Amino acid sequence: MTPLAQQHILSVDQFDRDILTDLYRVADLLQPIAASEERCIALEGATLANLFFEPSTRTRTSFASAFHQLGGKVVETTDEAYSSLVKGESLTDTARVLSGMADVVVMRHHVSGSVQDYATTSKVPVINGGDGPGEHPTQALLDAYTMAHELKRSDYNLDGVNVALIGDLKHGRTVHSLAKLLSIYDDVTFTLISPDALRMPETVREVIEQHGHNYTESPRLRDGLAHADVVYVTRIQEERFDDPREAQRYRGRLALDRAKYERFAPHQPPILHPLPRDSRSEPMELSRDLEELESFAAFRQAHNGVPVRMALFAAVLGIESGFLTFMTRPSYAEVQDRWRSNDKVNERPARAKS
Ligand code: NCD
Repeated sequence: MTPLAQQHILSVDQFDRDILTDLYRVADLLQPIAASEERCIALEGATLANLFFEPSTRTRTSFASAFHQLGGKVVETTDEAYSSLVKGESLTDTARVLSGMADVVVMRHHVSGSVQDYATTSKVPVINGGDGPGEHPTQALLDAYTMAHELKRSDYNLDGVNVALIGDLKHGRTVHSLAKLLSIYDDVTFTLISPDALRMPETVREVIEQHGHNYTESPRLRDGLAHADVVYVTRIQEERFDDPREAQRYRGRLALDRAKYERFAPHQPPILHPLPRDSRSEPMELSRDLEELESFAAFRQAHNGVPVRMALFAAVLGIESGFLTFMTRPSYAEVQDRWRSNDKVNERPARAKS
């Protein structure tokens, strides 16, 4: 049994190096299942309640996909407006009700601390899918996993890494969780690049300091990129501003394009972004002309969400890794192969690999 068995996953504070290493080993083992090349029924009979009271595309679908790929079933509710919360039901009552219907719950909500409140009356494990500007622990798990892969670090060891975190560091929950998670490692250097009004909160900077790491802050891109091993860009979180017009002042201010990247970071560090990127008008924070670079890792990063969340479900639901390798056939990939060998359907696309 892992230390995470039957635990709520509310914050990255619950992880240490050993837990992370074990989780990432299982995630690697599960890559073929995530890609539908192998099939697994370890969670047959189990139900996930996916409660997303705030907008989401990849986090919600990657949790659902992860659970399905392990053989489980998923029930979902999206948008607070369609839930009984608008009738005045408390989150703690919702938790009591759903404890009788699901084996594990993933929840996203716009209020910081709300997932923790929900968990107080849940009889089944609750995973934080993002609580307002608070935390997004599973995003940080997949971000660090992606960094280790992109940097080809053996045994997922991120000691000594120099990471540039760029964008809205004040409201971005992904950077809050990621900075805290990376602080587990030794000798990490953080360059925190944001407009002055959107600096990393003091609580997070304190965690960095308490672990003995160095950080510098700057409002300019060029300062952080020259020494960065990894560049992590984020969106201006306009939904978290009291006055949305204020957010407009910052959109595009730290936009990274290929010309700047090649000038400021000629050593071509991996470029990560939790996505979504703001693509509504130029300049967006990550320009499309970066995509053809091998170092552009944002889509690989998003796809890593599935195996990492599969590994987390396995750990939380107490599935030994031996059970995870118990596959049944034919897998969907084999079915696809059969389709492809049939002339009439050979245009059918295989699942894209990034
Ligand atoms: C992030 C989030 O929701 O915090 N998205 C995600 O989960 N991948 C980042 C964002 O919305 O900017």
